[in-house]
Amino acid sequence: MACILKGYKAKINAGVLKKKEAVELGDVDSAVGMFFLVNSGFGGNPYGGFGYSVNRGGEAKRLKNAMLRLRCIHKRLLGNVFIECLDFEDVMNKWDSEKTFFYCDPPYYNTEHYYDKHFGKEDHRRLLNRLKQTKGKWILSGYHNELYDKELQGFPYIEVNVSKPSYGITVNSKSMTRPRATEVLWFNYEPDPAILQKYGLELKR
Ligand SMILES: C[S@@+](CC[C@H](N)C(=O)[O-])C[C@H]1O[C@@H](n2cnc3c(N)ncnc32)[C@H](O)[C@@H]1O
Repeated sequence: MACILKGYKAKINAGVLKKKEAVELGDVDSAVGMFFLVNSGFGGNPYGGFGYSVNRGGEAKRLKNAMLRLRCIHKRLLGNVFIECLDFEDVMNKWDSEKTFFYCDPPYYNTEHYYDKHFGKEDHRRLLNRLKQTKGKWILSGYHNELYDKELQGFPYIEVNVSKPSYGITVNSKSMTRPRATEVLWFNYEPDPAILQKYGLELKR
């Protein structure tokens, strides 16, 4: 694994990894490269490089911790797990029932350009409409925005102040602290008050 990572990192650093080469890498090496990319830096783009922390050897520490987590992920995947590669609406149509729980972490509103597959305002509307019709429970994560705040009126939510992990501290950063943001979790059910209390979270409506 170390060898593949080394080669992959060299290619990305040299800015020479092209889409064609990524295909030629094959599934396993591509997966290893992707794992390396998302776990050792931020703002990763397989064809354009990535940023990494200049603080406290963060890059190596994050990668090491991610590799340790692989064991837990492997154990979990040996159980009754199905991985779907479908549009959210198809997933919900297929799996929704009174016993289903959906955790939805869609592309963030107004960040359509971050993703290869466009997820526009119409898709956000489609998601909110579909969520309102589910038989199962769901949690939806995102940030306050005019559409969600209007369409999700009356649904309970909590706010969590987080530092944005997608912003690393680079040698070129003007600030040495990450920006903070209020992330929101909306629920279509009443979350357990004991759990909210344990984490000091206040339920709002
Ligand atoms: C904010 S990210 C979620 C990241 C994820 N929670 C994780 O930890 O890796 C949004 C995800 O939505 C996916 N996505 C984009 N369009 C989608 C669609 N129509 N249906 C389902 N998922 C979609 C993107 O590929 C991206 O992985």
